[in-house]
Amino acid sequence: MSFEFTKDELERLDDLRNKVDDDRALVLPALWILQRRQGFISSEDILYLEKTLGIRAIFFAEVMGFYSMFNESAKGKYELKFCKTITCKLRGSDEVIKAAEDLLGIKMGETTSDGLFSIGESECLGYCEKAPCMLCNLDQIGDLTKESITELIDRLRRENASR
Ligand code: FES
Repeated sequence: MSFEFTKDELERLDDLRNKVDDDRALVLPALWILQRRQGFISSEDILYLEKTLGIRAIFFAEVMGFYSMFNESAKGKYELKFCKTITCKLRGSDEVIKAAEDLLGIKMGETTSDGLFSIGESECLGYCEKAPCMLCNLDQIGDLTKESITELIDRLRRENASR
């Protein structure tokens, strides 16, 4: 089924449109609605945004290309996005990522067959003082070690097994 804004979502976007001089101010809020609701934004969704909001598709595509939190396809229930920028790299992100890949049996960009985990990478998360760090969905997690990533993955697996 293709995405459609609810009446309430359209009203909120219209309210915003009335407060700004440039309709492009709606691009980020509109993308967030899609990302939060379905976990990704496909090229079909971008065409829907263009048609519905009257904002050229290229503006949505550019913003999606810049921010790593917007996905172009469905991801696992837990999306682990590891910072690959220099501070995190110098503080051991490669080792943490390798541990996550080994534990999950997948590589960067892949999703586990049970649909529980995806792993990906991100540019600097603005959390360098806690490097190496990552996002677990939208939660920032810092001071990562092989032990802490193992603990996190084990805990999330246990929580899902007991449901
Ligand atoms: S370099 Fe990783 S959060 Fe800044």
